Amino acid sequence: MCGIVGYIGKKQAFPIIVNGLKRLEYRGYDSAGVALLDSSNNLNVYKKQGKVEEMEKFALKHSTDGCIGIGHTRWATHGEANDVNAHPHINTNGDIAIIHNGIIENYVSLKTALIERGYVFRSQTDTEVIAHLIDDIQKNAKVDLAEAVRLALNEVVGAYAIVVISKNEPDKLIVAKMSSPMVIGFGEDELYVASDGSPLIEHTKKVSYIEDGQMAILHLNGNMEVKNLTDNLPRNLYFEELSFTLEEIEKGGFEHFMMKEIHEQPQAIYNSIRGRMGLEQMKISLGGINQFEGSFRNTERIVIVACGTSWHSALIGKYLFEEFARINVDVEYASEFRYRNPKLSEKDIVIAISQSGETADTKAALELAKQKGALTYGICNVVGSSIARLSDAGSYTHAGPEIGVASTKAFTTQVSLLVLMALQIADIKGTISTSLMNEFLNELDILPKKIEKILESDKYIEKIAKVFQHSTNFLYLGRGYNFPVALEGALKLKEISYIHAEGYPAAEMKHGPIALIDENMPVVVLAPHSTYYDKLLSNVEEVKTRKGRIIAVVTEGDELVKNLAEYVIKIPNTIEALSPILTVIPLQLLAYHIAVLRGCNVDQPRNLAKSVTVE
Ligand code: AGP
Repeated sequence: MCGIVGYIGKKQAFPIIVNGLKRLEYRGYDSAGVALLDSSNNLNVYKKQGKVEEMEKFALKHSTDGCIGIGHTRWATHGEANDVNAHPHINTNGDIAIIHNGIIENYVSLKTALIERGYVFRSQTDTEVIAHLIDDIQKNAKVDLAEAVRLALNEVVGAYAIVVISKNEPDKLIVAKMSSPMVIGFGEDELYVASDGSPLIEHTKKVSYIEDGQMAILHLNGNMEVKNLTDNLPRNLYFEELSFTLEEIEKGGFEHFMMKEIHEQPQAIYNSIRGRMGLEQMKISLGGINQFEGSFRNTERIVIVACGTSWHSALIGKYLFEEFARINVDVEYASEFRYRNPKLSEKDIVIAISQSGETADTKAALELAKQKGALTYGICNVVGSSIARLSDAGSYTHAGPEIGVASTKAFTTQVSLLVLMALQIADIKGTISTSLMNEFLNELDILPKKIEKILESDKYIEKIAKVFQHSTNFLYLGRGYNFPVALEGALKLKEISYIHAEGYPAAEMKHGPIALIDENMPVVVLAPHSTYYDKLLSNVEEVKTRKGRIIAVVTEGDELVKNLAEYVIKIPNTIEALSPILTVIPLQLLAYHIAVLRGCNVDQPRNLAKSVTVE
């Protein structure tokens, strides 16, 4: 989950690369580095542990001249986060530099062979192996840089998005891709390469996504040629346009991207449903479902594969498809699914949910599903992402770029999309009444307004956060559609405040976890009006009896829970199946404020990265 940026053109490369890396820091920030080919054909490499600005300060003490350069911000996989393991990595005499996002699975065997041939390694990284391998091949096969890169990568097993520059051929960047994300930007006689579009958008919207198993030579004159890594045959270039704007990836006056994205949810939900539900003709129309209407009508089983927050929205999808479309649903952790030998047939439909569209486990699970003949459907937020392009069909959540590592608007727009899918399939199968469909469509139409109302509780929730900021454990309880929200609320708190938290089905407390309850245990209970309300009330009583400190999320007008809970956060009433889109908002805000009060890095929590593109 590293970030890579490269530039070749007429402008000074250093500021372009540094600003680009800063936009990619959400992908990893253990260390950063840059390699620049200057006008005297020196290859200058500067790299430092820590954030990009540390490297920037260090580099500015030296020459940062040059119109060709590469840069990297790292999430450590092999070798600790320090200066020497920071990218770029160079060959022995320092005339080749490389940056890499991914993992080289067979780097040990390659490294052993290179050491036997006399190469001396400076770092513990897998990436440095490629630098020496390219050097070794060029020396022995007497080939140019592009061919040496191609031959080297044919010996490599693993995932990579790499960029290579050399003093000996100072008029080109060589790039290659296998499983890790990469996008090329086209300016006026200048070319950019990056892990995603965010470093490019201020320079160009014209981009091209090279495919897995391809490489490209980016020339100083702004031309680019694409080839197969296997047989070196030329491939066509396809252009696309970036689908977001610069302001969408700025903070817009908020202190953190996470808070901005929490507040973007009304608009994000509106964008995710806009144009997909017709209030006049009371119909839902998702292109991906329309394309395979017969498969969705006849399938007897849907499998949803995902990770993290996306796995939580998948659980809500299960409840929705089963209740309204009357289809059996299995929800699988992608990392588990990909290594089993799951029983799948061409009658099954496998849905992959992934905000980034680049999560390695989810992508691999989808590839397995394809191999077994299932119809694959992607729910992604990043247009043109690997999972989106791998799926037979799919729908984008249209949440806009999500920069904060903790998923917020991605989750609520995923749930909105799953609601639309379940309702459209139910409509196709005739398992939903017209009146209930109308009720859903009308409620979906006003849901953004209801989210805005909940956001008005932000100051109250901040007060609650102050009370519990020093807690060492939290429990989150919910039932039915709000059980996955309990899991999501716990994950939010864990990943940005570093407080241990667990989500549970409320009724499960009696089977052990209730032993944890005492006056030091904050218990967040999701208790909106629902078919489970009375049962939840008993669960809240059980917690109260044991002196648990209850923070309850209730439907406004609730008169019962408020007598049991220490703090009550009210949300507008809605259809039970839509309640997760509302109940999660207070949990996002609670986690955010606790993390800020604890001085945590909310947008870039320790050990985490936004897109887990490695196993
Ligand atoms: C959630 O807040 C985390 N950022 C993480 O669990 C994330 O949801 C998970 O890594 C899956 O990412 P994806 O949706 O991009 O596949």
